Amino acid sequence: MKILVLHGPNLNLLGRREPEIYGAMSLEAINQKLAERAAKAGVELEIIQSNHEGVLVDALHGAADRVQGVIINPAALTHYSIALRDAIASLQVPVVEVHLSNIYAREDFRHRSVLAPVVWGQITGLGPLGYILALEALLAREEYNP
Ligand code: DQA
Repeated sequence: MKILVLHGPNLNLLGRREPEIYGAMSLEAINQKLAERAAKAGVELEIIQSNHEGVLVDALHGAADRVQGVIINPAALTHYSIALRDAIASLQVPVVEVHLSNIYAREDFRHRSVLAPVVWGQITGLGPLGYILALEALLAREEYNP
């Protein structure tokens, strides 16, 4: 099994960027935790961080041929990227949307995810643990949704 992990704009700054909101853990540390959990399950990860919408869209194209699931923190693109939404909608594989912070407890403009209607599920507000739970969900999906 292979899973694509996408991190959107500004998430390369995690640990230094508004730590009171996003926490102290760096993106490298989050990726390391994910890699450890994936290794235990014998799962291969393809991890991409980009500050560019088109790079994320490109990564999603053809993902169905390469991977069996996607974990994405679209960051600010969550709230307005119809291009990302359409790319996700075109996929046949399950996509889990992750947010470190609870987007519903923040500014009004963050309450809306244009991706939420086209993803399998969303995890918001649990910090880095959200990524691990997203991986667990993809691993357990078949068992619970036969
Ligand atoms: C975020 C929430 C978004 O609103 C914000 O633009 C981010 C990160 C989160 O993980 O909490 O960059 O996706």
